[in-house]
Amino acid sequence: MNRPEDDAGPALFKVEIAPQGWQFDCAPDQTLLLAALEWGFRMPHSCRNGSCRACIARLLAGRIEHRIEWPGLSAEEKAEGWILPCVACPREPLRVEAPATVSLFDAP
Ligand code: FES
Repeated sequence: MNRPEDDAGPALFKVEIAPQGWQFDCAPDQTLLLAALEWGFRMPHSCRNGSCRACIARLLAGRIEHRIEWPGLSAEEKAEGWILPCVACPREPLRVEAPATVSLFDAP
């Protein structure tokens, strides 16, 4: 039996990249990195599995869940708001500090 929210599909959460102010939508089952890439925002990345830390960013507002139990972050880093967007999924609208992100639609 379907619940009403099943028919509507998953909610999308707004993600804002700081300091640029760019925004994109991310589904709760999608990683921030993949959603950003789909929307034309290139965040630094390499392994895409939460181990290399190339994508490290800071969560300024909102709540995420990491897809893996032990992402490559220390407890102190997590407490300070550091996240790994390649394995992070939104649970609320987010504001993420990722200054090295570039927009593929903005000419230099
Ligand atoms: S791309 Fe390697 S930890 Fe995110």
